[in-house]
Amino acid sequence: MDASEYARRRDALMARMGDDAIAVIAGAGERPRNRDVDYPFRQDSDFRYLTGFIEPDAVAVIAPGRAEGAFILFSRERDPLRETWQGRTIGQDAAQSDYGADTAHPIDDLDALMPGLLADRRWLYCALGADADLDQRLIAWVSEARSRYGERAPRAHVAIEPLLHAERLIKSPAEIEQMRAAARISVAAHTRLMATVAPGQTEYQVEAELLYDFRRHNGEPAYPIIAGGGANACVLHYIANQDELRDGDLLLVDAGVEQAGYAADITRTLPVNGRFSAAQRAVYEVVLAAQQAALERVGPGESFDAPHQAATRVLVEGMVDLGLLDETVDAALESGEYRRYFMHRTGHFLGMDVHDVGGYKVEGEWRTLQPGMVVTVEPGLYIPPGSPVDTRWQGIGVRIEDDCVVTSDGHDNLTAAVPKTVEAIEAAMAHGD
Ligand code: GLY
Ligand code: MN
Ligand code: MN
Repeated sequence: MDASEYARRRDALMARMGDDAIAVIAGAGERPRNRDVDYPFRQDSDFRYLTGFIEPDAVAVIAPGRAEGAFILFSRERDPLRETWQGRTIGQDAAQSDYGADTAHPIDDLDALMPGLLADRRWLYCALGADADLDQRLIAWVSEARSRYGERAPRAHVAIEPLLHAERLIKSPAEIEQMRAAARISVAAHTRLMATVAPGQTEYQVEAELLYDFRRHNGEPAYPIIAGGGANACVLHYIANQDELRDGDLLLVDAGVEQAGYAADITRTLPVNGRFSAAQRAVYEVVLAAQQAALERVGPGESFDAPHQAATRVLVEGMVDLGLLDETVDAALESGEYRRYFMHRTGHFLGMDVHDVGGYKVEGEWRTLQPGMVVTVEPGLYIPPGSPVDTRWQGIGVRIEDDCVVTSDGHDNLTAAVPKTVEAIEAAMAHGD
């Protein structure tokens, strides 16, 4: 992404903060996995959003109106010995030339320089509560600024998240391009997968097929891949992926790539042997109709809750038709009994994080969808073994999930190209055998 995109984001944050404030945003650190091994590094999304800087141990300070420039970046100093082991460090020169920092300092100078940077700023915008060590330092910097500069020190720590997340909620054209790219990679992976699934394979082999496509495009899973055969599809966050796929079962696959910082999130449900049984098809058609009803309510001016309400009604009508619920549709909606088989919401915001920021309610009311927001639409119906229904339904779990950008006149479904109707899925799975 262009350096000007990050500059625009910092400018937008500053406009919300006002001139009497300063913001401190810390990047992520490395996390140990086991002896001498760290987890793969993933930059904090807020920090990446504002800087594009992907290295551990970095802190951004944004000081509107500062004479030397508003953007101060603290990061690792270049060190030939460490670079021998870990590769090139960005360092202070490139922080300025490539990342737009007006001033760049070694991270080790942070404690010495922060109290001075805080002088004459009334409000310190920061994210307290995420990292106890950082919280202590933020408090210590203010207290030192107070002893050095008296009432010229900040009077309050203020939560930065509402400001920053209001920006992240509305995706820019450049961000939507990145989300399209993540969607394209994920669409291709799900579509190719359909031609490979067969009885006797395992859930982890399904995961491996998707990983292959994600890594081939320099991406990684945006969240642990869910590949649930049979009744495993009824476990919402099933990630064990250890079982064999059985002839006659369904397979629920929920997977999306994170690429260049943006996520996709797609679910499709397939018959392992390539043909839906009558019972599977009946459940599948209910979920598909519910998804269609929800999609029709994704557009500007709609409540965030409208797609969920639309999907829920169609799902409950289906549950009553199939005999899963022994009440009228209105009574089931009223009693909430349907939640036994549909226990999650119909979508969430999507962006740098798979469950993206922004908040679903504003002062107690559901948020109104606006152009540039990206939402998932993902109704499901899950009937675990032992449910009080005819055995033909037991062990069936179906979810269908797409990713939509809200546009000025409706939405653009970024993942619509993955086969979704019964006929399209069966055609995509036909191997010629
Ligand atoms: N894959 C997580 C979700 O669908 O929300
Ligand atoms: Mn989702
Ligand atoms: Mn998902």
